[in-house]
Amino acid sequence: MSGGGTAACARWLGGDWLAERDGPGPDWHPGALGQGAVLASSGRAAIADVLRALAMPGSVVLLPAYACPALTQAVLLAGCQPDYYPGDIFLRPDWAALASLARTKRAAAAVVVHPWGWLQDGDAMRRLRASGVAVLEDASHTLTNASGQRVAGPDAATAMAASLRKTLPVAAGGLGRAWQGALPPTAPAQGPDSFAAARREALRQPAGPSRHRALQRAESVLDRQSAPPAPHPSVALALQELAERPPAAGVGWRRACRTNWSALREALAGGACSPWADTLPEGVCPTGFVVRHPDRSRLAAWLLRQGIEATLHWPVAPVARPKLTRPERLLAGSVLTLPCDGRFTPEDMDAIAAACRSLPAGGRTNGHPRESLQ
Ligand SMILES: Cc1ncc(COP(=O)(O)O)c(C=O)c1O
Repeated sequence: MSGGGTAACARWLGGDWLAERDGPGPDWHPGALGQGAVLASSGRAAIADVLRALAMPGSVVLLPAYACPALTQAVLLAGCQPDYYPGDIFLRPDWAALASLARTKRAAAAVVVHPWGWLQDGDAMRRLRASGVAVLEDASHTLTNASGQRVAGPDAATAMAASLRKTLPVAAGGLGRAWQGALPPTAPAQGPDSFAAARREALRQPAGPSRHRALQRAESVLDRQSAPPAPHPSVALALQELAERPPAAGVGWRRACRTNWSALREALAGGACSPWADTLPEGVCPTGFVVRHPDRSRLAAWLLRQGIEATLHWPVAPVARPKLTRPERLLAGSVLTLPCDGRFTPEDMDAIAAACRSLPAGGRTNGHPRESLQ
């Protein structure tokens, strides 16, 4: 991993950017960026790199049934076989079912995701690892969490991997680290590096339908990727962009994300958008404000017309669909994420809440009754 890239990444993850008044940066990051870490062109490429070190080709890797399809893609890129474990409405694994699946399928590894910044149970991860299955912690949504609520790290996981673009202002990039031993060198870069360029270009456009279409086009480049992507010049470029930002630009980021989240929580209370989580645990830096809405596609289209990009989650990999639990099926048909990260102001939050509330009644619904999920 290049020294310049490492330094820029460390500075953002554990350094100036997050060293705010509300606490130090996540203390495991310097380790994550030390000897043996790999930088890759995307999160899925980093996961594939790590899995190649943890699992023999053809072995089973367990994934959450409800997760983004990039995870399935990463397992396939590593030459392994994905299988899926169940979760609850907060996407917490059913740990007993996961341990039993790991035994019966002789799984080589299990991937544990911290959805949208909310942390999984570190003790349960530790017990799983002690049972003999390698635990890969997907920290894509938690890179900006505070150290008091740090991810499991080497105490409980065998390795970690993360997409950089979920939490950092970069167009693309992934980070992987095995906690014992080094990762094998990655394959040479393949093909034109169109994803980061297309995404960076899309991000330059003002929010609204055309930027949204450009972002979707850029994402489809990643989704079509079938060869294991290696560290790309784009990653160095993206990290260079971080290095060039004045440190002050990021100060207060975590606090702004949390304040915005709380403002939306209050402003949307009692409306048709029900928050996925009622409270924001200490230390969590949310990647967005996740809501359930009975007509989320129409809401997303309505917001987009007003220049607000809300993400729909997730197109579940077809092979995982039969494995979804009932709460996961409900989530899969009803959640979307409203933006609330540190780029946005309190006025933006007011505008987003007003736009949600002004969705005209009627139209086609998602077909999901507003059932109680508890
Ligand atoms: C939890 C999680 N892991 C991994 C990925 C893959 O990251 P990337 O899109 O950078 O490949 C994503 C998003 O796509 C994600 O949400």
